[in-house]
Amino acid sequence: MPDPERITVVHLQQMKTRRELIAALTAHDFPTASAADEMGVDLILVGDSLGMVFAGDPSTVSVTLDQMLYHTRIVSRHVRRALVVADLPFLSYQVNPDEAVRNAGRLLQEAGAHAVKLEGGEEWAEVVRRLVTAGIPVVGHIGVTPQSVNRTGGYRLRGATDAEAARLKQDARALEEAGAFALVLEKIPYVLAEDITLNLRIPTIGIGAGPGCDGQILVTYDMLSMFERFRPKFVRLYAELGKEMREAIQRYVEDVKSERFPSLKESFK
Ligand code: KIV
Repeated sequence: MPDPERITVVHLQQMKTRRELIAALTAHDFPTASAADEMGVDLILVGDSLGMVFAGDPSTVSVTLDQMLYHTRIVSRHVRRALVVADLPFLSYQVNPDEAVRNAGRLLQEAGAHAVKLEGGEEWAEVVRRLVTAGIPVVGHIGVTPQSVNRTGGYRLRGATDAEAARLKQDARALEEAGAFALVLEKIPYVLAEDITLNLRIPTIGIGAGPGCDGQILVTYDMLSMFERFRPKFVRLYAELGKEMREAIQRYVEDVKSERFPSLKESFK
């Protein structure tokens, strides 16, 4: 079968213009990446949320560039249609713009990502500009920014006060002006998300930001309930694979211990 037409940053822009909603999901392994791609997900994010949902770490701060390179390589190898975006992990872009270009460049050159995402607002506009100048497409990410959890103290709703809302609008404008081609809005009031969306030329992709965005993203392990430590209100459960996995493993253990597995049919003569 010929490869389907690849989604590009230009397509995402056209989708906003046509008011066609963007469906995005995270993936960091082969089965998830190929399922998402085959089922029509437009943008696949190799999110540093893998530190929590895959590795079980307390936050995303522990995720390294080497880990992102490894998972991005796996995902991009198996995605034929979707745009693959890799997260720039903590400390891979904050030290200085030269390091940011070098590290982001590795995600494209060595791991096959088509674009990178970085967390933070106007203060990172210069880094975004440098990346874009170097030919590296960038997705911004404002609202809740999990890499800053140690400074901010948690994952509370952002933009609920007038001052915070004004700041987020300014951040969104600054990132667009710096050349970001899309913007993730995480856990902000839906009215604010809609306002930001209407005032930007680039598409917004919401997570906990209501229906007024140009697209939606969820962490796949959250929506499949593979990650069960906590469930934010904005996560809709599409399956309960964590529960199914435990039940299946329980049945397997019982079968082995009671000699119901393996049968002769599952054995060789
Ligand atoms: O790391 C991640 O999965 C993300 C999403 C929550 C957007 O940044």
